[in-house]
Amino acid sequence: MRVELNEIRKYFGPVKANDGITITFEEGNIYGLLGENGAGKSTLMKILSGFQPFDSGELLLNGSDATFTSPREALAAGIGMLYQEPLDLPPFTILDNYLLGRDNKVIPDRQAAIQELIELTQRYNFDVDIKAHIDSLSVGERQQLELVRLLAGGAEVLILDEPTTGISAEQKDLLFASMRKLAKEENKTLILVSHKLSEVQELCDHAFVLRKGQMVGETDVPCPNEKLVEMMFGQLPERSPRPSVSLEDTMLSIKEMAIRTYRLSVEGLQLDVRSGEVIGLAGLEGSGQGLFLKACAGLLRPAKGSIQLADKDITNHSYHATLAEGVGYLAAGRLEEGLVAGLTLTEHMILGALERKFMIDWESSREETSKRIEHYQVIGTEASTADQLSGGNQQRLLFSLLNTPLRLILMEQPTRGLDVRSADYIWEQLYERRKDGTAIIFISPDLDEILDRSDRIAVFYGGQMLKVVEASETNVDELGHLIGGEL
Ligand SMILES: Nc1ncnc2c1ncn2[C@@H]1O[C@H](COP(=O)(O)OP(=O)(O)O)[C@@H](O)[C@H]1O
Ligand SMILES: [Mg+2]
Repeated sequence: MRVELNEIRKYFGPVKANDGITITFEEGNIYGLLGENGAGKSTLMKILSGFQPFDSGELLLNGSDATFTSPREALAAGIGMLYQEPLDLPPFTILDNYLLGRDNKVIPDRQAAIQELIELTQRYNFDVDIKAHIDSLSVGERQQLELVRLLAGGAEVLILDEPTTGISAEQKDLLFASMRKLAKEENKTLILVSHKLSEVQELCDHAFVLRKGQMVGETDVPCPNEKLVEMMFGQLPERSPRPSVSLEDTMLSIKEMAIRTYRLSVEGLQLDVRSGEVIGLAGLEGSGQGLFLKACAGLLRPAKGSIQLADKDITNHSYHATLAEGVGYLAAGRLEEGLVAGLTLTEHMILGALERKFMIDWESSREETSKRIEHYQVIGTEASTADQLSGGNQQRLLFSLLNTPLRLILMEQPTRGLDVRSADYIWEQLYERRKDGTAIIFISPDLDEILDRSDRIAVFYGGQMLKVVEASETNVDELGHLIGGEL
């Protein structure tokens, strides 16, 4: 299958998301679609996969005109896309979710579907328990499931939009192996949408680079990094240096904490965080760091132990009571946990305001929203809804919703899906808050980010806080061994 996009144009008001893009994809290849945050990658791929219409241009499949009005129509023609934000339906079981996606059959044959699902997951080396509920799955597992659904639906061209951002290094290797297999053994066309040079270099045969809605170059990969960087940014971005803050009083003190869930128990947690300190939590997905963070946020009740915030014991506080003490929490799943798809930015601001007032003051809320949009450089207006924003802008929106001042900020993958510049910007804003004594604890699958941004690093392995190390005294190599459980 040969896919041609000719002079595709898509404007959102004044924003030229796609400004006349021409690209051809040949079968059996793995393509990289590279570009920094906001370059127009997701928009172009959503057009190709029938998720949204375009203003002008043409789309050809094997030389004939093809324009889709829905993702289902595109999938029937062989084009499937894994979206940047997972689109599945949390309350269902995996099997139900799978059956829902295949409603071309009037009465789904459960038994046959179970068989099919098991076969497909095995064929592509995926590891999902099909009787589990979707909301119990990690981002990586959800992806695998969605890929299986697309393959069962007959996808010949598979588009994966920033697929590695929410998953562990191990899951990424599995995913890339499956992608190679699909291209080389089954002659499928794979398109990896990414802002990360390293993964395009690692996986792809050929890369297209977008910048500000235009195609600015293409090259076979691997190639020298500088070549891609120059196409993406025009010039090399400079990283701003870390400000140092004097670390004084203890802001958070965790003593003898245990968290027990049906999937994992985490025991013997002990950590003192000073005000102004940044703690990175490293570990493979599901090692306990996520539960730890949720317990600190009041989202999970610890089975034992205590949590002290400044001079107050907040053990067993509810989520809302915890937030009221000056804690901010940012979840990894932006649209699932952090934002509400259909609500406008102003409505988010009102929801996020701690003090619930009897009457909503729309005028001042709109003003406040505009201010924060400007400060965090969110591309959108106070009347835009959260789902209209690009992934990176959704992330900025989440940051803009954090109140000031805060004692403690808890974050899962704070820069997921952001390009280098936006990630730098977000971290600058976070470092600003350290001056107020705000302590920061964050989870990231990216060991470089953990090393660069933390004062200390707590490594989790198999439900334990294995070791706490000074960031300045360790390196990626040592961390890599630690997260694998090697002391
Ligand atoms: N539904 C939408 N409404 C308004 N603007 C949008 C919408 N989708 C994307 N945009 C804007 O179009 C530009 C390109 O976004 P996107 O394609 O998501 O970029 P990328 O995936 O490369 O980060 C961004 O400025 C983004 O804010
Ligand atoms: Mg995108």
